[in-house]
Amino acid sequence: MRVAGVREIGGQVEVLELPEPDGPGPGEVVIEVAAAGVGNWDDIVRAGAWNVGLRPPMALGVEVAGTVIAVGSQVADLRVGDAVLGHPLPLRHQGCWAERVVVDAGLVVVKPRGVSWETAAAFSVPALTAEQVLAESLTVAEDETLLVHGGGSTTGGLVVQLAAGRGVRVVATAGPSSAGRVARAGAAEVVDYHDSRWPDRVRELTGGVGVDAAVNAVPAGSAEAMVAVREGGRMATITGDPPAAERGISVADVYVRPDPAQLAQLCGLLAEGRLTLSVGTVLPLAEAATALERAVSGNKGGPVVLHVGTGA
Ligand SMILES: NC(=O)c1ccc[n+]([C@@H]2O[C@H](COP(=O)([O-])OP(=O)(O)OC[C@H]3O[C@@H](n4cnc5c(N)ncnc54)[C@H](OP(=O)(O)O)[C@@H]3O)[C@@H](O)[C@H]2O)c1
Repeated sequence: MRVAGVREIGGQVEVLELPEPDGPGPGEVVIEVAAAGVGNWDDIVRAGAWNVGLRPPMALGVEVAGTVIAVGSQVADLRVGDAVLGHPLPLRHQGCWAERVVVDAGLVVVKPRGVSWETAAAFSVPALTAEQVLAESLTVAEDETLLVHGGGSTTGGLVVQLAAGRGVRVVATAGPSSAGRVARAGAAEVVDYHDSRWPDRVRELTGGVGVDAAVNAVPAGSAEAMVAVREGGRMATITGDPPAAERGISVADVYVRPDPAQLAQLCGLLAEGRLTLSVGTVLPLAEAATALERAVSGNKGGPVVLHVGTGA
């Protein structure tokens, strides 16, 4: 089957012909991939700094949307023909940038009707990250003020939506082209990060005190965001750059975890329109290298997705 991936760790992304997956094993399903998400995290897998369970030659990709075409003997919840999505780690056979992928059936959830394959493919990692950082790392309460640094990013945008939906007052950073979208997502205030004094602006918006909690979604951005946090507040970064603790502020370095129950709840919000995600760029599997470059450089206007098959 055709996949997009690498022949060796650190290698260039290319289209490869790899054996059809065996299986499914008793607890697995085979998915005919309709679309697969692309994030800068895939480059971390490519470089060998994130072990997702695979060895090269391997397909990359940790987010999938597609149709179940075979079901293992012990799988009770899914049937052939079901449309599913997920972040099915650890991957057992191949990554998701492939025509077919075999995954643990417990790690994918039913795709809501009316949600496109492309949106479904790009949803799992940013939505799970956003929920986990808000509900588990920061436990932000309704009467608190939250800074989302990088509100214009896919993940930051979902943090804004989830927090605002819980009644949290959100202050977000965004550039001019994303400011309107971030405000519509629920940010009470949007501050342009191109102004180097933006952390002071955020402090001013909180009467000089600083925000109760902050999420950093900008590579190497957490030290700046920390300036806007009040004494004794909380900071969580998703870009692997935790600053040294200071002024009694707790610091969390957050990495996404597959959680199908949480993902199913998030899909419910997506189906109801209480969460939205607009895909920025869709490319065919053959253009995976370009897709990854765009994701790594910070694709404007939404996530990058690979269109793989025809879907159901
Ligand atoms: N730890 C984890 O498990 C985890 C999970 C998901 C994502 N992440 C990480 O989170 C980061 C965001 O990922 P993503 O896919 O959501 O990003 P993305 O959608 O590619 O983000 C791109 C956007 O970031 C904004 N941005 C760039 N530089 C900025 C700056 N200096 N200040 C404020 N905003 C800035 C820009 O928005 P404007 O349009 O406003 O300029 C740009 O459009 C990545 O580093 C990713 O690896 C980590």
